[in-house]
Amino acid sequence: MTKLHLLLLGIISLMASFSINAEVLPEPQTTGGKPLMQVMNERKSSRDYQENQTVTKQDLSNMLWAAWGITHDGKRTIATAMNRQELVLYVVTPTEVSRYNPEANTLTVVNTGDFRKYSTMQDFAAIAPINIVLVVDTSKQSKPEFQGYTAGAASQNIYLYCAQAGLKSVVRAGFDVENLPQVLKLSSNERIMFVQTVGK
Ligand SMILES: Cc1cc2nc3c(=O)[nH]c(=O)nc-3n(C[C@H](O)[C@H](O)[C@H](O)COP(=O)(O)O)c2cc1C
Repeated sequence: MTKLHLLLLGIISLMASFSINAEVLPEPQTTGGKPLMQVMNERKSSRDYQENQTVTKQDLSNMLWAAWGITHDGKRTIATAMNRQELVLYVVTPTEVSRYNPEANTLTVVNTGDFRKYSTMQDFAAIAPINIVLVVDTSKQSKPEFQGYTAGAASQNIYLYCAQAGLKSVVRAGFDVENLPQVLKLSSNERIMFVQTVGK
């Protein structure tokens, strides 16, 4: 086998592994919804989640876009200091952990299994269908106050989307600091800021 054949084989297997692990989400719905003033009035934290409930892929796509979608000139639904765009979102479900890729509107599986208990110190989150982990890439933005702004702004957009979609949510600073980074397979420059529970 020539070097070219080996290279082609490598590219094909890389593409195959990408397509197996990356799930394409429904196109986010970026118009309509309840009036903003009403939604702000309805935003609140909830801690009473029913077991075995699901959140639709459409709602998941919409809320991820609300938090960290691309809007104008490659920029985002939220401001980031000096446009550093340091946020990374991970989604923990009952079956897997995935990383959100806003450019492709996909979720790439990084771990398989039910890891929800590592995303929380409170029982209610371990039975909720979705826990979104808000992570910052500290190599892109090193200032903690700017990292906090970014994660906070994204969290608020998730809250607002949930309020308008009739979903429950709560942002949490409490999670398993020892194990969650390993579950997410974070690199050394990635720092978990908060986890946001979503469900019904
Ligand atoms: C940075 C931050 C961390 C929080 N951490 C937790 C948490 O670990 N667990 C929890 O149940 N709620 C947590 N909350 C939610 C707050 O308790 C909640 O926002 C507050 O009680 C006000 O209620 P509201 O969101 O319904 O207005 C956190 C909120 C923020 C902003």
